[in-house]
Amino acid sequence: MKIGITSDLHTDVTPLNTRILPYIVEAAEKADLDLFILAGDLSPDLLELAKILTAFTESSLQCPKLFVPGNHDIWVIKHPHVTSEQKYRAIAEICRECDFHPLDAEPFVQETVGFCGTIGWYDYSFRRKKYNISTERYASKQLLGSIWNDVRYAKWEGTDSEVAQQFEVKLQGQIDSIKDIVSQIIVTVHHVPFQECVVYRGELSWDFFSAFMGSRRLGEICLEEPLVTHVLFGHTHFPMQQQIADVRAICSPIGYLYESPTQGLLSYAKERLTCFEI
Ligand SMILES: [Fe+2]
Ligand SMILES: [Fe+2]
Repeated sequence: MKIGITSDLHTDVTPLNTRILPYIVEAAEKADLDLFILAGDLSPDLLELAKILTAFTESSLQCPKLFVPGNHDIWVIKHPHVTSEQKYRAIAEICRECDFHPLDAEPFVQETVGFCGTIGWYDYSFRRKKYNISTERYASKQLLGSIWNDVRYAKWEGTDSEVAQQFEVKLQGQIDSIKDIVSQIIVTVHHVPFQECVVYRGELSWDFFSAFMGSRRLGEICLEEPLVTHVLFGHTHFPMQQQIADVRAICSPIGYLYESPTQGLLSYAKERLTCFEI
């Protein structure tokens, strides 16, 4: 089974992020995939999100397609009275209508392989303790004039720790619900599941915002289940593949395209569609 993964298309951020979409679709079409996964951060605009999913659905990519939302997808910008929980549920419905399986709503089984997933969230467990910054400061998501935009637009009903825990419990429930009927499990999350995959720079401002990368427990749940062989994620815009104990961790984001990639958009799209066989 050949699986392709990409994430963080952010088609609303720059003109190049808009222009690259057909090239990503083309890369996926040519990859001869048995299953395609989008790991979140397409667009805060639901119409735009639907348009992106539809671009894949209407292509010649006929394999099953799975999606987990990212933090940008659950942002509430235009309709501040709507909660992120409501938007999260609406995204699952849009997925179904666009022939994508909403992986965070329910697991997916193909042959003997199970796929589980969740947006995940952050609980500041990836903060650098040496800076001795208070929980209240992390909760403000602001430091030295910079701001993490989730504080403006992510409108969950709980604290970050509560939200992170809620998604961790859901992931554990998904794994428990299929582990007796599959021989292998692939997990997809949007937020970063392993601290080894968080990029720190040793400078306060950058490292402060690394606290919003993900949660330690998300990765522990994957490592505790022997059937989990791969954990796919997005959110950080650094592509990476790392072996974490018995698990292959893969991140393959498009990221923000402020400048045209030197290799051209199609080659860049091909590079940021990571394919692997199981
Ligand atoms: Fe992103
Ligand atoms: Fe993200």
